[in-house]
Amino acid sequence: MSFFKRIFGKQKEEAGKMATEKLNIGIILGSTRQGRVSPQVGAWVKEIAEQRGDANYEIVDIADYSLPFLGTTDGQEQGVAKWNEKLDSLDGFVFIVQEYNHSITGALKNALDSARDAWNNKAAGIVSYGSTGGARAAEHLRGILGELLIADVRVHPTLSLFTDFENGTVFKPADLHLTNVNAMLDQVHAWSGALKTLRQ
Ligand SMILES: Cc1cc2nc3c(=O)[nH]c(=O)nc-3n(C[C@H](O)[C@H](O)[C@H](O)COP(=O)(O)O)c2cc1C
Repeated sequence: MSFFKRIFGKQKEEAGKMATEKLNIGIILGSTRQGRVSPQVGAWVKEIAEQRGDANYEIVDIADYSLPFLGTTDGQEQGVAKWNEKLDSLDGFVFIVQEYNHSITGALKNALDSARDAWNNKAAGIVSYGSTGGARAAEHLRGILGELLIADVRVHPTLSLFTDFENGTVFKPADLHLTNVNAMLDQVHAWSGALKTLRQ
């Protein structure tokens, strides 16, 4: 086999593999509060996402990792390693963001701070909720994502605590959000695929 065929043939094979392998997208629950509503929102996004069949979507719950507050320990806990391994396995993210004092939760900030390389050169979408759709928290998150080399997409479904939840606790999303969630996922999927090429 010629030198060029060996080299370019391999490249073609790699490109083919990348085109057929499904991307792994994590739906990250930003709240760890007891009684939180975020699992309901995450499950709804996952259900919509899975109907698309274009990627492997999974819920990633920060609460499962028992992350220590950054800097208060030596960081050698299993949870920190597991958190980084989980992020490593993902090509993109959907952050389920709730507004706490006009920003993201302390738990989400700590989880973002608890990894670095594992976030880099990946894409993310945001689904937020709060009294004003969680917009202020989402905009804070966008600033943080830039520092972590995460490309955040434009379409951003915003859910109202008043009209998309009954009594602020039972999630009953308005139909119109479905279009937005799919548009956001279109962008996350496209950018996650594009950025994967940078990491190889
Ligand atoms: C400490 C705290 C601060 C909050 N601050 C805001 C706020 O600034 N803006 C807002 O819209 N909602 C605020 N909320 C309401 C939360 O968005 C609401 O309780 C939401 O359900 C929290 O998400 P979770 O249930 O998934 O934890 C706050 C709630 C808490 C507990």
